[in-house]
Amino acid sequence: MSQFFFRNLKKSYPVVASAKGVRIIDTNGKSYLDACSGAIVANLGHGLAEINDAINDQLSKVAFAHTSQFVSEVGLELAAKVVDLTPPGFREGARAYFMSGGSEAVETAIKMARSYFVHRGDNQRSICFSRRQSYHGSTFGALSATGHPARRKPYESMLRTPAHVSADYRYRCKCGFGPGPCKSDECSLAAANELEEAILLAGPENVMAFIAEPIVGATLGAAVPGRTYFPRIREICDKYSVLFIADEVMTGLGRTGTTFGMNHFGVVPDIMALGKGMAAGYQPLAAVLASGRVVKAFEDSTGVFEHGFTYSAHPVSCAAGLAAIEYLQKHNLIESVAARESLFFDRAEKLRSTGIAGDIRGKGFMMGIELVRNIDTKEPFPADVRISQLIAQEAMKNGLLVYPGSGFIDGVSGDHIMIAPPFTTSDAELDEMFDLLERTFVSACSLATSGSRSKN
Ligand SMILES: Cc1ncc(COP(=O)(O)O)c(C=O)c1O
Repeated sequence: MSQFFFRNLKKSYPVVASAKGVRIIDTNGKSYLDACSGAIVANLGHGLAEINDAINDQLSKVAFAHTSQFVSEVGLELAAKVVDLTPPGFREGARAYFMSGGSEAVETAIKMARSYFVHRGDNQRSICFSRRQSYHGSTFGALSATGHPARRKPYESMLRTPAHVSADYRYRCKCGFGPGPCKSDECSLAAANELEEAILLAGPENVMAFIAEPIVGATLGAAVPGRTYFPRIREICDKYSVLFIADEVMTGLGRTGTTFGMNHFGVVPDIMALGKGMAAGYQPLAAVLASGRVVKAFEDSTGVFEHGFTYSAHPVSCAAGLAAIEYLQKHNLIESVAARESLFFDRAEKLRSTGIAGDIRGKGFMMGIELVRNIDTKEPFPADVRISQLIAQEAMKNGLLVYPGSGFIDGVSGDHIMIAPPFTTSDAELDEMFDLLERTFVSACSLATSGSRSKN
């Protein structure tokens, strides 16, 4: 009997003891290969002395000072560093606001969009559109934006009226293309045009923002939109003076082989949310980056952003974030992820022989594998088989960590797993990962078909 409120009180979890590089060890001495960087967080691998030293240095100076009274040197440095990474058209006059996690970043981004309009005297705009298949976080504002039925269900009556449009989900494109993913530019444009229809229906004067992940993560397993999708979204936002928020919590800072996921589409958002990889799990850290255009609305008005967290811009977290970005740059890890993308995806091809890898998709070191019962018809597994959970459980038995997701086709069925290892994973470790994954797929399939799935 434990006093710890576990994520699932009916499940037992190994106790973590230590971690180094791509491996996590539990207190029984069992080693796990971290093929998903936890929850796509530990982008630099575990146990880096450089980052630990930066944290300890900051701790020895000052652990905490409140942002209503002070700003820290590392906070200022990190803001300069991260704004410098943003694209032209965003960077000029841009500022960074720091907090502890991705949900806080999304809350902040949405409130910042609202404040932008209030500062400009446009009080009417308050609707934030988002997409049906999306994950933006677990707090109320972020969950209102989230378009994943199972995550919303218990809280539905407490959330804002959903304002969701379709994502450009190419494997199950509305045109019914099969058996692989759709490649039509027209279909991507049609998905983007749903936003325009929604804005017109709501009345443009009521709409403040649209938020989207450049490449959908947890709720659609690394689904990459077509090249025309985001440029059209940008056009629509501009036409109706709606702010475009890029939720880069998962994709930001190198995960997809570019600094920001939106760079793949040549589109510049108005606000960005960052998290996860920002301090690579060494400390809780996230950020909202406000473009010069957004900042100016505050500067031209009272300058006040009526918002804040006790742990905003925590100095120790900022020190970890600064050290993480410096490590990323010193070792050219974003370039390395881009260069190794094809090798990474080639390794996954062996999974096709298992007959359940319907779609293997993604960018950089962010891979999603959609699991289907029939490759030709794309028929999903019945929801009660819980194939993605089953694979995650079998993987753990085999000493491998993967990130499962489900319920994205119709709110109930649809399964994927994400493979997103640290950028520092060696070729030999990638081989080991995919060997273990192949073995895991085979054993999970036989459990799924025999119906004798482990219950925990
Ligand atoms: C795209 C995206 N936004 C927001 C969040 C929420 O971040 P956090 O869990 O750090 O609150 C996540 C977490 O998975 C995410 O993937």
